[in-house]
Amino acid sequence: MKEEKKVQNYVMSLVRMLISVIEEKDPFLRGHAERVARYAVSFSKKLGMKKWDIEKIYLAGLLHDLGMVYMPYEIIQKPGELTEEEMETVKQHPIIAEKIVSKVSVLAEISPIIRHHHEAFDGSGYPDGLKGAEIPIGARIMLLADTYDSMVAARPHRSAIKPLEALREIMNNKKRRFDPALISDFVDYISSIEGLSTKKKVSGDKDALREMIMAIVQRYQKGDIDLPHLPKIVHEIIEVIHDPKSNVDDLAAVIEQDGVISLKLISMSNSLWYGGIEKIYSVRRAIPRLGYRETQGIVTAIAYRDLYEANNIHYKLLMEKLWLHSLACAFAAKAISKKMAVGDAELLFMMGLLHDIGKVPLLKALSQMERQVTPFHIKDVLECVEEFHSRVAEEIFHRWRFSEKFIDAAKMYEDPQGDDASERMVSILRLADRLTQDIGYGLSENDTGEAHFIETDSMGLNIDNETLDAMGDEIKKVMRNAAHLF
Ligand SMILES: [Fe+2]
Ligand SMILES: [Fe+2]
Ligand SMILES: [Fe+2]
Repeated sequence: MKEEKKVQNYVMSLVRMLISVIEEKDPFLRGHAERVARYAVSFSKKLGMKKWDIEKIYLAGLLHDLGMVYMPYEIIQKPGELTEEEMETVKQHPIIAEKIVSKVSVLAEISPIIRHHHEAFDGSGYPDGLKGAEIPIGARIMLLADTYDSMVAARPHRSAIKPLEALREIMNNKKRRFDPALISDFVDYISSIEGLSTKKKVSGDKDALREMIMAIVQRYQKGDIDLPHLPKIVHEIIEVIHDPKSNVDDLAAVIEQDGVISLKLISMSNSLWYGGIEKIYSVRRAIPRLGYRETQGIVTAIAYRDLYEANNIHYKLLMEKLWLHSLACAFAAKAISKKMAVGDAELLFMMGLLHDIGKVPLLKALSQMERQVTPFHIKDVLECVEEFHSRVAEEIFHRWRFSEKFIDAAKMYEDPQGDDASERMVSILRLADRLTQDIGYGLSENDTGEAHFIETDSMGLNIDNETLDAMGDEIKKVMRNAAHLF
């Protein structure tokens, strides 16, 4: 322990010596390193980062501009804008600093943070033009702390601006330099230490959230993050059911490959809801009781149940709601289709189940990024997710090789050239979505379950309100009795 302390002291005196060299060279940098390190460290603590990572951020903060030592005085003290050539010279400073630091073995670990402290989230930074998650998190934090301190301190080429103004600029993130996942926390943190009013923050928060979601969508589209897979078993079931020569035995054989799903299916068939009087012990006998074609939807729902998980409490509840909403919508779409003898009831069950699938990866990614000191407002999260989910859904369905018709219908887009049947499917899905909201399985906080008037006429469906009410009751009953079985 004593030895460790000694090394620490040695590192610190080395670091102090290096800082004094920077400060001597450039009076404008006096105190800058200390302040940046301090901002970055307390902010990292707020984010709940590990102790060793925080220590690295501290040292990197102190040394991030070490490379300025090699910059010529004419550039450092130039009052006006720098020329392109001068800018190229300045851009060398992170590389120079990295070179110096990596020669000292105890400091080598902080060199990536130093090298990348001017990388921008959209890839427009220097020296390597790294993008998004390629940039070490420590460097993304450093950029915020560094930019903020540089803005509020006077520099030779421009005067200081007020903290609130600086925060607004950061919040706007016009040049897309900052990690959108960090902005609102950083603004919260600086506001709290500067004693600034955060009243104006709300809209900024939502902008930051929107940016965050857009960045997530882009990452999905580029394939940087994995989208949910179509479980092999669902794929195989679809094949079996579409094969006119197949029978219950074939279907049972596919399902039995998955122990968990088989057990759930059997216990479901034994539940009161599915009429389980005589006890069943095999998938083979469970299928006819649940319905041959119904089994596809049920297994898909079981296979997807686990998808609606989040490791953070804020999103856990939301995911649970989304799951119940999707399941209720599946039941509703199926019920409406049956009642009106329109479309394929089982296909509509699938569509109802999957119509909001694009929201799942978005919420999941948000929940993993969730490091908010103050979490986003649920209403904002839902609104932003609503705006982008169909793009994600489209990606997912394409990867699953679902048909264009399914995709359009599940996205609830009316296709002007589409045939009558697909238009009616979209109408059913929309009505199902509304109905689930009215019976209390919506997503927003103020869905109280009080029915509002649904204009079924405008949806091209001829259902009177009495029938609709009855259907709503029926779905409530299914949900009460069967939702827990999945
Ligand atoms: Fe710098
Ligand atoms: Fe700096
Ligand atoms: Fe929905």
